[in-house]
Parts: sequence; C-alpha cells; structure tokens
Amino acid sequence: MPVFAPKVKLNNSLEMPCLGLGTYQSEHDEGEKAIKYAVDIGYRHFDTAFFYQNEAEVGKALRDKIAEGVVKREDVFVVTKLWNVHHAPELVEPACQKSLDNLGLGYIDLYLMHLPVAYKYIDEKNLLPKNEEGVLQLDDIDYLDTYKAMEKLVKKGLVKSIGVSNFNSEQIERVLKNCEIKPVTNQVECHPMLNQKKLIQFCKERDIFLTAYCPVARPNPSEKKPTFLYGEEMEKLTKKYNKTGPQIALRYLIQLGAIPIPKSITPSRIKENFEVFDFELSAEDMQIMDKFNTGERIVPFLLIKGQNHKYFPFNIEF
Ligand SMILES: NC(=O)c1ccc[n+]([C@@H]2O[C@H](COP(=O)([O-])OP(=O)(O)OC[C@H]3O[C@@H](n4cnc5c(N)ncnc54)[C@H](OP(=O)(O)O)[C@@H]3O)[C@@H](O)[C@H]2O)c1
Repeated sequence: MPVFAPKVKLNNSLEMPCLGLGTYQSEHDEGEKAIKYAVDIGYRHFDTAFFYQNEAEVGKALRDKIAEGVVKREDVFVVTKLWNVHHAPELVEPACQKSLDNLGLGYIDLYLMHLPVAYKYIDEKNLLPKNEEGVLQLDDIDYLDTYKAMEKLVKKGLVKSIGVSNFNSEQIERVLKNCEIKPVTNQVECHPMLNQKKLIQFCKERDIFLTAYCPVARPNPSEKKPTFLYGEEMEKLTKKYNKTGPQIALRYLIQLGAIPIPKSITPSRIKENFEVFDFELSAEDMQIMDKFNTGERIVPFLLIKGQNHKYFPFNIEF
C-alpha cells in the first residue's frame, strides 16, 4: 500500500493533498508515464495548466489509472489554470470548457487564474501574442472581472474550487473585498531562496493556502545551482536526516505550511520527492534553512516585468 500525502482542509471544506506533482514540460508519452508512475507511488494531487499544453496527457494518464482500478476519480485532485489570453469574462467559460475537454475527467478540482496580468487575445493558437518587435502584447482587463467569471464556473459545477496564482498580498486583498467565493489557494514561486514566509502568513490569516511552485528550485548539478542545495550546510542536513537536498527543501516548505508541487519525469526523483512524510526538521534546522532566503526568483516573468503593467505582481515586498 502506498503512503499518501496528508490532506489539508480548504476554506470551502474540500480537501487537497499537501504535496502534488508539477507537470510543466511533462509532455507526450514521457509525461503520461510520469503521471501514472506518480499515481502508483501515492501522489493524488496533479498540477497542470492550459498553457503547458499537456492537459490531454495528464487526463489520459489519470483516466487509465481509474480504468485500471488503482484510483477513483474522487481520489485525485486535479488543478489546472486559466491562461492569460483568456481573461475577458466572456472567454473564461469557453477556456474552462476546453480544459475540461482536454482532461476528460468530468470536473476540475481547482481552477486557478494563472497570472493577474492579461495578455491580448488574438486567437486560440496564440498563447504568447507578440508584436513585430517581439514585445509581448498585454491587456488591461481587471483580474476582478476575470475572477467573477471564474466564480460562475463553481456555481455551474464545472469546477469545485477556484484560486489564484502569482498574486501579491494587495491583489488577494482586493479579490477578498470584491468577490463572493474566496480563493482556496495562491500558487506562487516558493523554495528556500524565496521562502515566502510573509505571504504564507498573510494567506493563512485569511484561510488561504499557499501552493509552492519551483519548490526544489530546478536543480542543476553540473552548475551546482541553486547554491543552497550544494553547500556545506545542506550537506550536514542531508547527513543528519539521511535525506537528499530536494527532500530537505520540500520538508522545509511543508513545515512552513506551503503545499509544494515538485515536477519530475524521472521515476527515481518522483519517488524521492514523495518520501518526505517520515521525518521532521527540528526548529534549529528550520532556522538554518531560513538563512537561504535571498529573495531570488527563478521565474521573474521577464516578458512583462519591464512593461510597467498596473497588475504586475512583483513590485511590492510580498
Ligand atoms: N503558476 C505558475 O506560474 C507556475 C510557474 C512555474 C511552475 N508551476 C508549477 O509548479 C511545478 C513545479 O515547478 P517547476 O517544474 O518549475 O520546478 P521544480 O519542481 O522546482 O523543478 C523541476 C526540475 O527539477 C528536476 N528535479 C525534480 N526533482 C528533483 C530531485 N529530487 N533532484 C534533482 N532534480 C529534480 C526536474 O527534472 P526531471 O523532470 O528531469 O526529473 C525538473 O527539471 C511545475 O511543474 C508547474 O506544475 C507553476
């Protein structure tokens, strides 16, 4: 019997496993196999997005596992995201419907707005609309209007929960003041270099979970990056706990109260990233991990960063 990730209770009383499988760049056969393997290992939370163009593979892998009798639909928690070109309220339901069709799982457990900044809609194929100079074309649609259209998806039963991604604290506050359905999570970049303690606390006080993307900070062993993973302090921790650096990083995030969604298509790493429920970092070691917080971002959204957009989320502290 596989060990399962403990579940957290969301503000709408539904439950979500406290660790999931990321799937950005998990594509084709390889992606499908990774998801099936993850189900066998015990993963029950899967994170995809319309933008990743792999919803069909994620859905197929899960449907196959359901057909095999390994899991039931209600045992898996599937997250996907509304892409930035689909922020116009009238485009939200058709976009959601497309994701539902791609996944083929009947409903979506959690539908997130991928970013508060809208991109200009050209057509269904153009997900990164650029002008002749290569500048990404943005739109000024208010994310509140988009969010209100997402609330209708819950009411219609297309999705069970809604949430946001890459929102800062002020943007979350604005959603809370103006909307009927609370977001259940804010999915943001979060790893030991950007531990998001303030945003986690802010969300917690409002009964919102923070989902941690890039939780293992995309390790690059040949360049020894991120440096925290390959330094002496981490080496001591790996020896002390008999765990790898990525496992220590994931455990740290879980103890901070975040929900990490590490991505891997490599069976040994998929397994490694899930073996984080049989140890606990001491308070002193949590403090050692805190020291790695440099604020460095792996995903700085360079294509929009310089454009001075009023909803660009990363210009304030958190
Ligand atoms: N909302 C957003 O805007 C947003 C942005 C970025 C990501 N996300 C979500 O968050 C998920 C995770 O983020 P991410 O994929 O960017 O980064 P990540 O999970 O931190 O890192 C993934 C990379 O690290 C490797 N890796 C995974 N586990 C490892 C381990 N134990 N040891 C060594 N290397 C390991 C993977 O390689 P292999 O696959 O080759 O094993 C892959 O190259 C994404 O897949 C996506 O679902 C959301």
